[in-house]
Amino acid sequence: MAKERLDKLIASTGRWSRREVKNLVREGRVFADGQLAHSVEEKYDADTCRISVNGEALTLRRHTYVMLHKPAGVLSATEDGRGRTVLDLLTPELRKIGVFPVGRLDKDTEGLLLLTDDGELAHALLSPKKHVDKVYYARVTGRLVPEDCAAFAAGMTLGDGLECMPAGLEILSAGEESECLVTLREGKFHQVKRMLAARGKPVAYLKRLSMGALRLDETLAPGAFRLLTPEEEGLLRQ
Ligand code: URA
Repeated sequence: MAKERLDKLIASTGRWSRREVKNLVREGRVFADGQLAHSVEEKYDADTCRISVNGEALTLRRHTYVMLHKPAGVLSATEDGRGRTVLDLLTPELRKIGVFPVGRLDKDTEGLLLLTDDGELAHALLSPKKHVDKVYYARVTGRLVPEDCAAFAAGMTLGDGLECMPAGLEILSAGEESECLVTLREGKFHQVKRMLAARGKPVAYLKRLSMGALRLDETLAPGAFRLLTPEEEGLLRQ
């Protein structure tokens, strides 16, 4: 494990900014591996070091992973002058760490949104080459038929020339309104809505259920979030 600067390690808890850590060190409140810390630039191994602030031993995390049940009406952007973003739903401490959403959900889409400060993992989860399936539940207007599933499986080219990789479409119910599960390996702009609209079945409701082996915790109400468990972090890396 590469070593990290003391201020980065302590700030990763989300409890203090780097500037605050500098003051804590200056005031003699920080111990690292049993020694009084003198400089925030000193580097320590995040896996093995023992750091305490004001006598309290810290639990260090190299990265932070947050599962949010995104509600409708909130943007997945990190900053937007026009409306609330998913970051506004988190605590100030998590915002301070600098977590960002892994991919985007449309404003009216609900469901699983992962936020992290781990750029490498975020990139891997979004890259079509890594084959991370994203599963969506959709309610559409119109009757879904097996031909729709075949078109998804074959890979569709939309009216505007957008080429979509083969995707999964499982029909859950079919009638004037239909319900389905859509499985994608990529995440082009409005992709689920555009693919279903291209089949003449516009989406009325959309919710993401999973990314790879990580499933939305349905005990989280829309707008609620929690940190991933170590097991869930492991699932993401599979
Ligand atoms: N596809 C869409 O059309 N919208 C989303 O929010 C996600 C996938």
